[in-house]
Amino acid sequence: MQIRIFETKEEIAAAAADVYAGLLAKKPDAVLGFATGASPLPTYAELIRRCEAGAISFKDVKTFNLDEYCGLPADDENSYRTFMFRNLFSQIDIRPENAHLLDGNAPDEEAEARRYDRMIEEAGGVDLQLLGIGTNGHIGFNEPGESFTKSTFVVQLAESTIRSNSIYFKDGNMPTSAVTMGIGSIFAARKIILIATGEKKAEAIRKTVCGDITPRCPASILQLHPDTVLLLDKAAAALLGEEERSRV
Ligand code: PGA
Repeated sequence: MQIRIFETKEEIAAAAADVYAGLLAKKPDAVLGFATGASPLPTYAELIRRCEAGAISFKDVKTFNLDEYCGLPADDENSYRTFMFRNLFSQIDIRPENAHLLDGNAPDEEAEARRYDRMIEEAGGVDLQLLGIGTNGHIGFNEPGESFTKSTFVVQLAESTIRSNSIYFKDGNMPTSAVTMGIGSIFAARKIILIATGEKKAEAIRKTVCGDITPRCPASILQLHPDTVLLLDKAAAALLGEEERSRV
């Protein structure tokens, strides 16, 4: 696990965008795993900027998002589909049909989960997965539990997740379940970037980096991943020791 600590969110975004640029130069039809939430937004802004400048192109990529709420219309302002098209896909040269998100309204969510796993497999697996992290150590919507999850599945959201995300639901009607790629699906990505900023993430980052590898902190599994880089600001890195800070 590589750890890089930056002063600003913009520096993190530039470092993340450099990884995308390097991958896309080598593999223009890469498979990209994207995430929602506040953490990736500066990176998306930087990817848009570089795409507009002609420095990178997404015209041959396929993307798969980590998760989606259940029970929200796809065009709801809080659906992750809406989030991704608003904050990234509508502003880069991706072909919309190559941007895949889970259907949180599928009549049979189990079948939808299997369909999604099959599509990722048929695309050749994820080359680069972007992650945020919950204050409880979740990645995607893999909440702390008794065992590591494997493939895509329907999850009941944790109280802390509902508390964190309910700020986006002005009417107070936040869904309590979601469909998410599993820890096994995330771990299968060939390269992973995890972005965390702010002191609220410091404890989750400490457990992820220095704690036991346990499903009680799902992100801790990344200690075993062969190519994961954590892009942190100083506040998120505040509880790491000297040894972890120098792991670049
Ligand atoms: P955030 O969410 O980027 O909005 O902090 C991350 C997460 O909950 O996974």
